[in-house]
Amino acid sequence: MELLENRKRIKALSNDDKREKVVKALSQIVFDDAKILRMIQTFEEQIQLANSTDENKRSQTDLFWENTFVRGLFDGTECGTYLGMDLGGTNFRVVRVDMKDGKANTQTKYYNLEKKLLVGSSSELFDYIAVSLRSFLSEETFPYQEVPLGFTFSFPSRQISLKRSTISTWTKSIKCTDGVGLDSVSLLEEAIDRLGRDTFPVRVNVVARISDTTGTLLAGNLLDHECKIGLILGTGSNAAFVEYIRNIEKWDTCYKDNDPSDKVVINCEFGALGDNGCLDFMKTEFDRELDRHSNHPGSYTFEKHYSGHYLGELVRLALVRLAADGLVFAETPCDKLSERWALTTSHVTDIERVTDGDSPTLQAFLEEFGVSSPSEDDILLVREVCELMSTRGAYIVATAMVVLLNHIDLPEVTIAVDGSLYEHHPKYHNNMASFIAKWRPQTKTTLRLVKDGSGQGGALVAAIEAKSAKRP
Ligand code: BGC
Repeated sequence: MELLENRKRIKALSNDDKREKVVKALSQIVFDDAKILRMIQTFEEQIQLANSTDENKRSQTDLFWENTFVRGLFDGTECGTYLGMDLGGTNFRVVRVDMKDGKANTQTKYYNLEKKLLVGSSSELFDYIAVSLRSFLSEETFPYQEVPLGFTFSFPSRQISLKRSTISTWTKSIKCTDGVGLDSVSLLEEAIDRLGRDTFPVRVNVVARISDTTGTLLAGNLLDHECKIGLILGTGSNAAFVEYIRNIEKWDTCYKDNDPSDKVVINCEFGALGDNGCLDFMKTEFDRELDRHSNHPGSYTFEKHYSGHYLGELVRLALVRLAADGLVFAETPCDKLSERWALTTSHVTDIERVTDGDSPTLQAFLEEFGVSSPSEDDILLVREVCELMSTRGAYIVATAMVVLLNHIDLPEVTIAVDGSLYEHHPKYHNNMASFIAKWRPQTKTTLRLVKDGSGQGGALVAAIEAKSAKRP
């Protein structure tokens, strides 16, 4: 990122004194080359720790670097009917995928999760899921008596095999009273048993548990065989990628199979990177303040720097600092600005869409925040802070992509991306693309939106698994 004093809007501020003070307050946001290089190096060091055979070393990092046990991608021979189920936030979906000659026909149905289910017992939550699955199945007809199902369960988990994993913690909107330490597929199977398997119109065989990142990677790979990374850029953030087994030291101790593939999909679970302090060098006062007042202080450090749940609040905190220094909204105090979390990422997305200074969107935002007569400097600074935080966010997540691309080390790679932030923010895509082109020029990289890939991915992993089960 360029120096603040060279930026157009900063230069356009009305006087030198203000310019100097704004530069002093906001320069910490600039994600410059020194920080980028240090983050690449730090991320790599943390990967080495996460990969180590030595449990002591592994405990020094917050990267899960989970083996997904997904060993192959698509080769075009997949055929049959598969089910996917996707639980990751406030709603839940069931997906049917019919595959023929490697092409997929997908049907999806969404089910709303009532608030009380999100904070109740895990058995209540999984009972509801099982009832929804049965209702989905009763509306369909199947050519087989048994259908394989892949479960996309997007909460940090320790993966023990393709099917087995234990929940490490609930995140995002789900905070059940129990479940941590339990296996999400067992919870599902027990709920199906409680309902009675004979009440289901077809036998369901749960063959895999994956995360939304692996699901997005698989859905992307179906569309484009160069796809080797799945990235979620929504409320939370995380990625999965295709790694060479030779790069995973801990491989021998945690998994052995007869699969001839030299690759495996890794679920990075990088949202928590930095909880051990390794990213403190790039934290601004706004990151620290946000963390102190977040739901889980000290945890999920990396995603707090840029994901959808946090971007708006970071912008708000920077504007609060400018207001406290008398640099913004000095004439018309903006009370709502002091309300934590009042400024959301969708406000930032809307403001970033503004192409000229005096748009109705900007007026609507300022009115919502009680600013009736903003000065020209106020407008410049609101737009500037949104752009600075968003650009920093795009560069931070793109740095993680560069690290993964260095591991993949291929001349051409597609990154499948899903999530509201990436989909709706007008500049994340371009900022990430130009950043990656600069920092990983050896790989022609394409970023591609793969909407709802995570649910479809559940069914796709079942299709891949069915194929490998047939292998002699
Ligand atoms: C979860 C990840 C998930 C990501 C994106 C994070 O909060 O820990 O497992 O992949 O959100 O949904």
